[in-house]
Amino acid sequence: MVDGDRTWSFVVAANRLPVRRVWEEGTARWVPSPGGLVSALRPVMADNPDAVWVGWSGVPGPGTDPFEMDGFRCHPVEVSQGELQLFYEGFSNATLWPLFHDALVPPEYHRTWWDAYRTVNHRYAATVAQLAAPGATVWIHDYHLLLVPGLLRRARPDLKIGFFLHIPFPARELYIRLPWRTEIIDGLLGADLIGLQTPLSADNFCRAAARVTGAPTTNKTIHHDDRTTRVGAFPIGIDAQRIAGLAADPAVQARSTEIRRSLGSPRTVLLGVDRLDYTKGIEVRLRAFRELLAEGRLSADHCVFVQIAEPSRSQVTGYGEVRRAVEQLVGDVNGNFGVMGHPVVHYLHQSQPIEELVAMYQMADVMLVTPLRDGMNLVAKEYVASRPDNSGVLVLSEFTGAAQELKAAELINPHDIEGLKAAMESAALRNPADARSAMRAMRRVVRANTAQRWAERFLDRLALGE
Ligand code: G6P
Repeated sequence: MVDGDRTWSFVVAANRLPVRRVWEEGTARWVPSPGGLVSALRPVMADNPDAVWVGWSGVPGPGTDPFEMDGFRCHPVEVSQGELQLFYEGFSNATLWPLFHDALVPPEYHRTWWDAYRTVNHRYAATVAQLAAPGATVWIHDYHLLLVPGLLRRARPDLKIGFFLHIPFPARELYIRLPWRTEIIDGLLGADLIGLQTPLSADNFCRAAARVTGAPTTNKTIHHDDRTTRVGAFPIGIDAQRIAGLAADPAVQARSTEIRRSLGSPRTVLLGVDRLDYTKGIEVRLRAFRELLAEGRLSADHCVFVQIAEPSRSQVTGYGEVRRAVEQLVGDVNGNFGVMGHPVVHYLHQSQPIEELVAMYQMADVMLVTPLRDGMNLVAKEYVASRPDNSGVLVLSEFTGAAQELKAAELINPHDIEGLKAAMESAALRNPADARSAMRAMRRVVRANTAQRWAERFLDRLALGE
């Protein structure tokens, strides 16, 4: 699909566009895309008339025409039904996603998936090459497009190319299992600057690149093929002002009160908000909650646990299993500890608009963010940004990027169920005033490192070229 002859000085490429097309009763409409990548990048793009976002519409088959959104251009890339299975569900989400998340489920290696991954990466690179103005800045995002920097560098050596990985980069010992480890590192090294969420991921990447290419790596700079690629940690933030604005909105506040009342006005509400993904540690927090009830350390008369699980990647290995396990646990806890008309766990397998999520963040005394591994986790930051009165306790896994910044959270190891139980119990029983100084400290961090600041830091460093 062409976009006239127009070219753009700033091009973003990500697997998904910021909106996805859904069909309801024969009519199509655009709704916000899931995940942290889109929510962080959207404010960066808003009202930039010289920016274009290249990505997939969320629907397989022939693409739609380019269109305007929030004052910038969206340029859809076509992904066929077959490619959806091999490139997206296969190589992206059943090879790279589990491998990069510490092989929490076994990654699968299939040559047909790899072929489709290469084909789709070629298509993205060709589209960007066509849309980018001479000397333009191109920012490529995430694990679906690891080959695009190298392909683009060959087609358009004039471009400034940045790449940001939103998920963790694994330890070298894991990464080198990948049969296509050399092609992927070569692809990434087409970028001038590679950004990762944490210093650990940046180190892991440099060690893997040194091992695979044999290239000298000094001080986060890799010299390869007569070029230099810089590597750095750029932890992503949220649009803190937007969330704070929603938290101050009387309609959102009224909704928050209404939700709490509908839960039976319990003394303590614990909340989890996640895509339904095996990396998120939803099962572990439900098991911990069940044990706390069984041991009488928390009481179903006073506590309610709300879990929002956004449907995600239901066709991919591991996702059906985690859904069944979570739903069995919810049924088990409610069957054993609920009373008629008052379930102790409220579970929604539905996505929610951000207004509804902020209303939930506001009514939750304890926020449970317990992933086994997570690049950043923006839900943790959204919760903090929704607590202007400094109340509320964030229980946060050490294995999230967010834990590097939100050091005042109640940090837990999600593999240590007794430690998690102790943290949940003390958070649920804590006097709200005692939590205030921790929340105040976390709010400072979230306000200082917004999505906008993150993008500025990355793009300034890319522009500097040193
Ligand atoms: C994570 C990834 C994103 C992805 C999102 C939603 O945040 O880093 O790249 O878009 O999950 O997943 P989905 O498979 O629905 O795009």
